[in-house]
Amino acid sequence: MKEIIDAVSRAAIRIKKTIEFGDTGYSSHINKTGDTQLKLDIASDLIIEEEFSKVTSIKSIISEEKEEAKTLHENGKYIVGYDPLDGSSLVDVNLAVGSIFAVYEKEANANSIVAAIYVVYGPRTEMVAAIDDVKLYRLDENGSFKEVKTIKLNEKGKLNATGATQKGWTPYHKKLIDEIFAEGYRLRYSGGMVPDLHQILLKGGGLFSYPATTDTPKGKLRLLFEVFPFAFVFEKALGAAVDGKKRILDLHASHIHDTSPCFFGSHEEIKKVLNEYAKH
Ligand code: AHG
Ligand code: MN
Ligand code: MN
Repeated sequence: MKEIIDAVSRAAIRIKKTIEFGDTGYSSHINKTGDTQLKLDIASDLIIEEEFSKVTSIKSIISEEKEEAKTLHENGKYIVGYDPLDGSSLVDVNLAVGSIFAVYEKEANANSIVAAIYVVYGPRTEMVAAIDDVKLYRLDENGSFKEVKTIKLNEKGKLNATGATQKGWTPYHKKLIDEIFAEGYRLRYSGGMVPDLHQILLKGGGLFSYPATTDTPKGKLRLLFEVFPFAFVFEKALGAAVDGKKRILDLHASHIHDTSPCFFGSHEEIKKVLNEYAKH
């Protein structure tokens, strides 16, 4: 696992430079979820593939930016699912973005996830790795990631990050969100799930939701490289992650680009979600 974390660290340093100085324009390709790929999405994907090619324990990779899984080392033990550049359209407006990685053993599915790592490219570059617990690392001036602390969520937080187009929300989702705001929660939503979830994790808790909507009944966020890894991080940080009714890590992805509604947070907020959704 250390070799994978080291490869992510090397890739992160290269991606950070690409974000800072690379071309922010669009390519002519559309990815499997229908997004026109930015040149930065493609460049980040290639950097990660290059770094993972040096790690013989990685059998195959599954990227948001590739149609199919790709075998790297036949005898490898791990399958890594990743979103090379999450929130990439935010680079244009100079907001924080990230990379997300899920490490699977045996098969790429929730029941096989053994680690999750993400990187935030913000004013500072930070990496969070969840294996048994959740560790925060920060890139220092010498180009190495130094451990900062272990991340643990409180039972209840203060932040509410509400995703998706509101006019497509179900009435009960709206009711849930209204009630949470009425309790005094503050809105925090940048449109990048990495910094939005990172903020909740570092500020002790709250709720991030990306519900099913009328236009996206299966949500927007992708199971293998966005939803499962963050569900793993939240559980290891003593929080929880559900799809409204079920625990995320009990779900099963049938296709590599499948999506799901998702809610991540501390226990109190996730209890509220389950209570409200159970009525419908
Ligand atoms: P990506 O850039 O990899 O396509 O993902 C963007 C995602 C995620 O980061 C964020 O939470 C969500 O899109 C925001 O969507 P809405 O603007 O619909 O809330
Ligand atoms: Mn993404
Ligand atoms: Mn992406």
